[in-house]
Amino acid sequence: MDKLVDKFGRVHDYLRISVTDRCNLRCVYCMPAEGMEFEPSEKILRYEEIAEVVSAVAKIGVRKLRLTGGEPLVRKEVEKLIAMLSTIPGIEDIALTTNAIFLAQKAEALKEAGVTRVNISLDSLKPERFAYITRGGSLKRVLDGLEAAVRAGFHPVKLNVVLMQGQNDDEIEDFIRMSLEKPLQIRFIEYMPIGHNDEGWRAKYISLDTVFERVKQMGYTYEPAGDIYGNGPADNYRIPGAAGTFGLIHPVSDHFCDNCNRLRLTADGNIKPCLYWDDEWNVRPLIGDEHAIQRLFLRAIDAKPENHEMARALANEAQSHTPTVRRMSQIGG
Ligand code: GTP
Ligand code: 5AD
Ligand code: SF4
Repeated sequence: MDKLVDKFGRVHDYLRISVTDRCNLRCVYCMPAEGMEFEPSEKILRYEEIAEVVSAVAKIGVRKLRLTGGEPLVRKEVEKLIAMLSTIPGIEDIALTTNAIFLAQKAEALKEAGVTRVNISLDSLKPERFAYITRGGSLKRVLDGLEAAVRAGFHPVKLNVVLMQGQNDDEIEDFIRMSLEKPLQIRFIEYMPIGHNDEGWRAKYISLDTVFERVKQMGYTYEPAGDIYGNGPADNYRIPGAAGTFGLIHPVSDHFCDNCNRLRLTADGNIKPCLYWDDEWNVRPLIGDEHAIQRLFLRAIDAKPENHEMARALANEAQSHTPTVRRMSQIGG
């Protein structure tokens, strides 16, 4: 069977698996205020089904997994799934992206089950603002979760900070200070127009050059940090003497599609070859037939577009393919 190589020669060895579309938060950039209608549980892949899909694609080149959501830790006993995935031949890395609300209680069990790395979403260090952005989340629980992850021995622990003009861009300095003191990799992310019918996205979008300007205003120099483990799209930098690093993820202004090695599997079993593109292929009817699952992944990858067009969205220009209508919580980032 062929490996997962697309028409543009990109080798795909990384599968992001959304284990649930449910979340215990409703971040302003991710969900509408009224929340989302969640998929009924009978449409969601069972753990055995996810493991079967992973086992099939591991045979055609997938080596790294990332579990996402919604919020992956709201799915019951997700560590059981992780333990299953970690025994699949070929799988070398199982990472997790979480809002960390349940991380303090789960960190040890996740480590034991086989999670290798953890990325935490955290957009404000001010309790009230954090509660506003997440529509009710407790900053203390996230910070406790972060400490627990470091204590459990996860390394690196990465923080995802979605920067929004007028909402948290005045905290860049605080996050930079955090990266000086703690061994964290803090990544500032451009706000993406995923599943938004604008909803003020454009007004809140902010270029990440602002981060460099602020770091310089703080009186620091920085240099590229070449030693970051992970497959991520971030450009990472180190301030001399800092315990951690800061990074920039700029999918809108400067996409990183040329090196894309990712595929996605949604909680309801759809293969999604590109984050910002509508077409999907449902794997559920093929459960039980390994070759058919592999063929469907190869078909999906064959249709993968060369790049997304978020920059066109920013410039208000027409796009050549339909952007995704799903919200971020239904894709998993
Ligand atoms: P690492 O392997 O640890 O570096 O993971 P990561 O940074 O890819 O994963 P994470 O889930 O923490 O995602 C960080 C940010 O990058 C999120 O805002 C994602 O939506 C964004 N991102 C991840 N993959 C893609 C992608 O394929 N395309 C685009 N445009 N953005 C992505
Ligand atoms: N733009 C940028 N990042 C987003 N995330 C969720 N929605 C958006 C968006 N519209 C981030 C979350 C999480 C990661 C998986 O994606 O903060 O860290
Ligand atoms: Fe939940 Fe993550 Fe969406 Fe926030 S960004 S609502 S934590 S899925």
